[in-house]
Amino acid sequence: MTAIAVTGVTGRLGSLVARRLADSGATLRLVARDPSRVQPIGDAVVAAATYDDAAAFEAAVSGASTLLLVSATESDTRVADHITAIDAAIAAGVERIVYISFQGAAPDATFTFARDHWHTEQHLKSTGIAHTILRDNNYLAYVPALVDRADGVIRGPAGEGRFAPVSHEDIADVAAAVLSNDELLANETRDITGPQALSLNDVARTLTARTGRTITYEPQTRDEAFASRAHYGAPQWMVEGWVSSYEAIATGELGTVSDTVETVTGHPPTSLEQYLDAQPEALAGLFAHAEAADAAIEKPSRWRKQLTDHLGHRIDTTSGPTTSTFRFGDGFALATDTEAGLRLEAEAATGDRLAQIQDVVSRHLERFAHRHEISISWGPSPSR
Ligand SMILES: NC(=O)c1ccc[n+]([C@@H]2O[C@H](COP(=O)([O-])OP(=O)(O)OC[C@H]3O[C@@H](n4cnc5c(N)ncnc54)[C@H](OP(=O)(O)O)[C@@H]3O)[C@@H](O)[C@H]2O)c1
Repeated sequence: MTAIAVTGVTGRLGSLVARRLADSGATLRLVARDPSRVQPIGDAVVAAATYDDAAAFEAAVSGASTLLLVSATESDTRVADHITAIDAAIAAGVERIVYISFQGAAPDATFTFARDHWHTEQHLKSTGIAHTILRDNNYLAYVPALVDRADGVIRGPAGEGRFAPVSHEDIADVAAAVLSNDELLANETRDITGPQALSLNDVARTLTARTGRTITYEPQTRDEAFASRAHYGAPQWMVEGWVSSYEAIATGELGTVSDTVETVTGHPPTSLEQYLDAQPEALAGLFAHAEAADAAIEKPSRWRKQLTDHLGHRIDTTSGPTTSTFRFGDGFALATDTEAGLRLEAEAATGDRLAQIQDVVSRHLERFAHRHEISISWGPSPSR
């Protein structure tokens, strides 16, 4: 059986695709810069290669008929590295390449990193090899990271524009389907987006509701955006990429919603709300008392005392083994795995805030209800 070679397997997207392909019984070659960091998947072969090393890449994908090329981390040699990898794959006998690109890829794309994708796409097409180009919108996983954790503000020159962020899981579903079927999206270029075009004000509203902290969006000018990022000391091309990622929202280049996820996988794409329901840990660090909560989590005895002193309510629950952490604007809940099962303890302010926290915790715990019996008791901390 011919194999499918998958790159990026030490990262989020590549590992999700590899897992899906393995579950469907595919023979895999997992290509990684550092094979020691690859999570073993069945009897999949692991091979070492970077994109810029033609000989290593050719050897790594040799024996594969299809390749998933996950785009490289942004760098000033990214296009050249992609071209090296594509040519090496063709030299190795690979017959089809699926490339993870970015929505709006164009030679003059506002988002400068999307220009890299266009140049890579052009090279891929020019070789004549069978291909599919999957142009992702922004990843949902990175949406909470748009917020400045110090003051809860999203800052960028995105104007009143919109984008349609998509989950890694949905992209992986599409990519795995395409890699498993030579006919599917053959020689096509498709956008992959979430279900809605969101403004950064929409994002701020959702994150406010989820965290209890007031999160806002402040549009910047281009000059303000460069100035506010100057302290990172990053190279100019990188800062240009960061700033222009917002400008591409402003221009509408990321605002078109596509139906690719639904038509290819049969399920609708995940919304921001659904994503946060499924992965509440994505909100870690966004809560007003995140630092206190982080410190407290490291020292459970200290946090119990600190929060018991500071707040007035306690939540206890038991269920089966799993781990989750919930933090709130003026309190947080911590779920820990113990042999005795899941114990959730949360402490929070009174009145409306407590009711809000009860609601969020209850909704999150419902996720486990099919597996575990869950009981929650609310009331004043016994130590007060
Ligand atoms: N749509 C978006 O919002 C968005 C945001 C950020 C990035 N991206 C792009 O989407 C890609 C996949 O996203 P992700 O979230 O899965 O990223 P990720 O978790 O950082 O994984 C990137 C993977 O690509 C590998 N890689 C990077 N540069 C490479 C190179 N020159 N040669 C060989 N392997 C290389 C990495 O290997 P190591 O583990 O050795 O580093 C890692 O396995 C990123 O690499 C980036 O190009 C998209």
